[in-house]
Amino acid sequence: MMHQLDAERGDYTLHYCARSRTHAAFVPELTDNPHTTFHFGDEDPAQILDVARDLGEPQPDTAVYVCGPAGFIDHVLGIAEAMGWPPQVLHKARFSNDGAAAQPDAGGSGGFTIRLASTGAEYAVPAGSSVLDILLENGIDAPHSCQLGICGECVVRVLAGDPDHRDDVLTADERAEGMFATCSSRALSPTLELEL
Ligand code: FES
Repeated sequence: MMHQLDAERGDYTLHYCARSRTHAAFVPELTDNPHTTFHFGDEDPAQILDVARDLGEPQPDTAVYVCGPAGFIDHVLGIAEAMGWPPQVLHKARFSNDGAAAQPDAGGSGGFTIRLASTGAEYAVPAGSSVLDILLENGIDAPHSCQLGICGECVVRVLAGDPDHRDDVLTADERAEGMFATCSSRALSPTLELEL
């Protein structure tokens, strides 16, 4: 993201937190980056991350991306929301998404069916397979990356049916707009129609 923003001359700030410099990756690369502020737990207490101070007042044209362990993300986003940052500008990427695929389908163990809006083709999604698995197995060029529900690359729109969201990337507004992560989310209805 930083490379892309630098190429586009975008305005951004990276707040990079770690226990110490020796625990942090990319320190040499980031030290000379004017957009980077380090926060190391074993250095001057004044430079340790203070979410309210370092995030500042809500800015409608600014997106906030938080990446890291779940507790850290919850801490940062909890303060951001309390400060009035609108949900649609808050984004998160967890280091892992344990258990997203471990829950049984709400409709039982039989899985569900997906229908592609462009062709009307239908495919069964059995328990133990993701929607993305089935798309790829059937030769559909479905975008994807992490396959953990944390990057957003696989998101498509649901046109009909009732999704069972299990990703960790979509906001409540995006889910309300019908967005759906094919790598991790499932269905509460027998069929989902996808904008594919
Ligand atoms: S591939 Fe990353 S969220 Fe689905």
